[in-house]
Amino acid sequence: MRKIIGINGSPRMNWNSAKMLDSALKGAADKGIETKRIDLYKLKYTGCRSCFSCKRLGSPGFGRCAVNDELKPVLDEILDSDGLIVSSPVYFGSDPGMVRSFFERLWFPSHTYSSDETVAYDLHLKVGLIYTMNVPSAHYYTEFLESQKNKFDSMVGETEVLCATDTLQFDDYSKYSSSAFDPVHKLEVHESSFADDLRRAYQMGQTLLG
Ligand SMILES: Cc1cc2nc3c(=O)[nH]c(=O)nc-3n(C[C@H](O)[C@H](O)[C@H](O)COP(=O)(O)O)c2cc1C
Repeated sequence: MRKIIGINGSPRMNWNSAKMLDSALKGAADKGIETKRIDLYKLKYTGCRSCFSCKRLGSPGFGRCAVNDELKPVLDEILDSDGLIVSSPVYFGSDPGMVRSFFERLWFPSHTYSSDETVAYDLHLKVGLIYTMNVPSAHYYTEFLESQKNKFDSMVGETEVLCATDTLQFDDYSKYSSSAFDPVHKLEVHESSFADDLRRAYQMGQTLLG
């Protein structure tokens, strides 16, 4: 049975990114694909430790991350799967730190320093990258999103990117310092555009593995 691992890159377990992920995984499951959701913020791990074990010639761990923490079995399971969907908020125009640490550990073992063979293994994974963000348009982050896609394409596998913009950040805007936002507009977007975003995520799950 084909399998997709879904990674929730938000510390919030049931907000925008998690909902987008669940919708994508539901789309995959409805196609008969095995799915598994993993919440990064429940795990204890670090970024790359620069041990270079993944690049050591002749090592049985060549091309795999050797850091033995709670991320290691997740990385191994991802590489043994057919697809990966990561859904994450944008923090300060980039990845949240936990997500970046996960990406370092995923990307670096695949990337060799050899001039004739630049990747350590067959890039068989199909990848869906989902970003949710406060800004009203993904064009704010075109450069970042393209750079993420390029890294995934070249170090993990063929990647498609999906964004949910203008997301709802709080249940009740009146309880927070948030006068820069119009809560009525935020709720309207949540009920209309975000519903469309969830449908697009479902579609991603349906088609990711072809
Ligand atoms: C620390 C922090 C930094 C953020 N930085 C940005 C940002 O740079 N651009 C943006 O559009 N949204 C930013 N946001 C908003 C989140 O990306 C957005 O609300 C997202 O949908 C939250 O995802 P979640 O509901 O899954 O947690 C930030 C939120 C937090 C908590």
